[in-house]
Amino acid sequence: MNPAVFQKSTCVPDLEGAHYQTCLEALHRSLHPSAYLEIGTLNGETLALARCPSIAIDPQFDFFQPLVAQIIAKPCLFLFRMTSDDFFAEQDPVSLLGSGIDLAFLDGLHHCEVLLRDFMHVERYCKENSVIVLHDCLPVEEAIAERERTFDGRVLPHRNGWWTGDVWRTALLLKRYRPDLSIAAFDAAPSGLVLITGLAPQSRILADHYAAHVERMSSWHLRDLGIDGLFEELGVEPAASLSDTEQMRARFLR
Ligand SMILES: C[S@@+](CC[C@H](N)C(=O)[O-])C[C@H]1O[C@@H](n2cnc3c(N)ncnc32)[C@H](O)[C@@H]1O
Repeated sequence: MNPAVFQKSTCVPDLEGAHYQTCLEALHRSLHPSAYLEIGTLNGETLALARCPSIAIDPQFDFFQPLVAQIIAKPCLFLFRMTSDDFFAEQDPVSLLGSGIDLAFLDGLHHCEVLLRDFMHVERYCKENSVIVLHDCLPVEEAIAERERTFDGRVLPHRNGWWTGDVWRTALLLKRYRPDLSIAAFDAAPSGLVLITGLAPQSRILADHYAAHVERMSSWHLRDLGIDGLFEELGVEPAASLSDTEQMRARFLR
């Protein structure tokens, strides 16, 4: 029998959905959050989409000058130039925002254990029907999912710079070990969006076994799973549904 039959995919075609920022814009329109938190802001393109009281956390903000008017077009905006771990060690987002977080976008350091901590921290300050969005959990090529960003030249030329790190492991961990959550993955270009709701701010499932979860997910490899295997397990859906306001409201504003 041909051994190639058993070979797992380590490179798949580009995701076909709309660009993730277009999808996020649609999500802000549908969900109308009253309190937004973002980890990983860089030049402010995703922060500019929020119109409500917002918190942005990044050790290195680098706002695009032409975006500044849009970024500050909110009733209030708190910028924390620090790592997300430092932020949550010092601050209470509910006190800052005056209410629980409605929508969060997690796009900070692309290491699986850091995203896991970011998720755990943010969930504590959410409501059950808040939505937490994870970025970059659908890598289309094995090399862009390495923990270090040294892959340029080893990927298809148009994918140079598409670093996702290994945060796909966090999405898979949540899928496997938090069956209480409602998790939906979308093929937003270039590396996916994962929407999580049905949150449980008091849950200890992750915190009580944090080290074991990190050890467990670190032993998972894309080569063994296959990228198509990962996408199948996460149940990747067309991102087109993210622009359907009625569908999004019915699905996420329960
Ligand atoms: C991919 S960029 C964010 C891009 C932005 N969300 C967008 O879509 O336009 C990732 C950002 O995470 C920030 N970052 C890195 N480590 C971090 C950490 N530990 N906590 C918070 N942010 C971090 C980086 O400084 C960088 O600006």
